[in-house]
Amino acid sequence: MVSNYPWWRDGVVYQVYLRSFADGNGDGTGDIPGLISRLPYIASLGVDAIWVNPWYTSPLNDGGYDVADYRNIHESFGTLEDAKLLFTEARDKGLRVLVDLVPNHTSSEHPWFRAALDSPPGSLERGRYHFVPGRGGGGVEPPNDWKSVFGGPAWTRVADGQWYLHLFDVTQPDLNWSNREVRAEFIEILRFWLDLGASGFRVDVAHALVKKEGYPDVGEDTEELLATPDREDHPTWDRPELHEIVQEWRSVVDEYPDAVMIAEAWLPNWSRLAEYMKPGRYHQAFDFLFLRSPWQPSAMRQTIVEALQASATVGAVPTWVLSNHDVVRHATRYGLPPDVRVRNWVLDGDRSLLDPETGLRRARAAAVLMLALPGSAYLYQGEELGLPEVYDLPEAVLDDPVWERSGRKEKGRDGCRVPIPWKTTGPSFGFGDGGSWLPQPRGWGELSVESQEGVPGSTLELYRRAVAARARHLEGDDHLEWQTVEGDVLAFRRGDDVMCLVNMGVTPVPRPEGKVVLASGPLPDDLVPPDTAIWVVN
Ligand code: NOJ
Repeated sequence: MVSNYPWWRDGVVYQVYLRSFADGNGDGTGDIPGLISRLPYIASLGVDAIWVNPWYTSPLNDGGYDVADYRNIHESFGTLEDAKLLFTEARDKGLRVLVDLVPNHTSSEHPWFRAALDSPPGSLERGRYHFVPGRGGGGVEPPNDWKSVFGGPAWTRVADGQWYLHLFDVTQPDLNWSNREVRAEFIEILRFWLDLGASGFRVDVAHALVKKEGYPDVGEDTEELLATPDREDHPTWDRPELHEIVQEWRSVVDEYPDAVMIAEAWLPNWSRLAEYMKPGRYHQAFDFLFLRSPWQPSAMRQTIVEALQASATVGAVPTWVLSNHDVVRHATRYGLPPDVRVRNWVLDGDRSLLDPETGLRRARAAAVLMLALPGSAYLYQGEELGLPEVYDLPEAVLDDPVWERSGRKEKGRDGCRVPIPWKTTGPSFGFGDGGSWLPQPRGWGELSVESQEGVPGSTLELYRRAVAARARHLEGDDHLEWQTVEGDVLAFRRGDDVMCLVNMGVTPVPRPEGKVVLASGPLPDDLVPPDTAIWVVN
């Protein structure tokens, strides 16, 4: 271990989707006391930190990404005292806590937006958001062609005829980041949470924030769940002006030892993403290109090479991620043929196309691969149990605004947000005493922590071993050396002595020489079967 190597550079962070993690008071919704009660479990995974999805006061129209008060906790998640306790209890167990910062938009219930609605066009109150006149006779048409990521126009008209911008739900008005008051307020919000004990922030839609002056038309279809614009000078995404704001945040975060900022920025390539990690900007930025890479060695290798090279040009390393609360869980993704559009499949695809065994086998191998790579890694709650996407949730329980706003053409993201099974049996498989806000499927108990704890070969024990092996063999070093091995294989060396090999082909390959310290599945006859990853040490 290199002593001046910062913790986050190769840290493993566990993502807690609070609503669905552990319910301490039996109201069917996860909460901070529930999370505190499960900190020993998180610590037992060997991770360095947790990132908690938004917990603020909110109408929860977008799972809490619609914030009504940035300095308070939603009553069903707990209190500020609970949050403070979480910070200290977590720290006692060697875990840092990252808070989710939502700067692109507030909730329409935020006092600023209410005040804006109560104030006339041109007022200071309206200036904190994007209120503009419409087009056409009488301004009855939206100001431009911008689309909401969740479907429909990105503009909604208010009683006096002006339109306000919302790149997401109508209840998520975009803040105007050219406004000094908005900028000052977020500096205070950062300090508020850092002073309370947070170790940094995951920053929501970090590639949004600034909109192009004059609100020009996009002139193309932007209706994609999480937009990844593939052009320069896009009016809503990845504007170069946003980096100045980030630099301002970074100087505040740097006042707090060990604190970090990670960008959630869906971008089409690494040359754009690297901009976010230049010195004085973000410490980390999720690599969603890895998550989207097909299970195929040359494509996967290319993705990894680009990430390592581009991040190295700015002195950074990538942040790997396979699943989160916005995407179909990777145990299901990897079980579908490569040409299937996963989101459409979730809605009404041919269920016979899914091969769940292959999905899980690959998911396990992918985790063993990810944890072997230089850089940091984020684990999404439940992936360590091998949880699949619950793609068949009944329409009546769907909560994601995407469902309605897409005209019911996108089922939305509820299927990866189903509450965690802690126990084999019981009303909500140990999630809480009062049921669960989304129904858990039959058979969820077999995947529970209780069913897997201490069971050799279980996905839970595989993750524990992988995180421990990473700490033992790979900590504090960015180096990776590709190896040429026969077959549809990905192979590289790390550190002094570790070789990681992933068989992505359809036939077994010989096991490399050395002591096997980690294997994502059985290794019969000294071979590495298809969809299996191993680490050997020699
Ligand atoms: C990205 C978040 O991860 C997602 O859940 C949310 O809907 C959008 N940003 C809008 O805040």
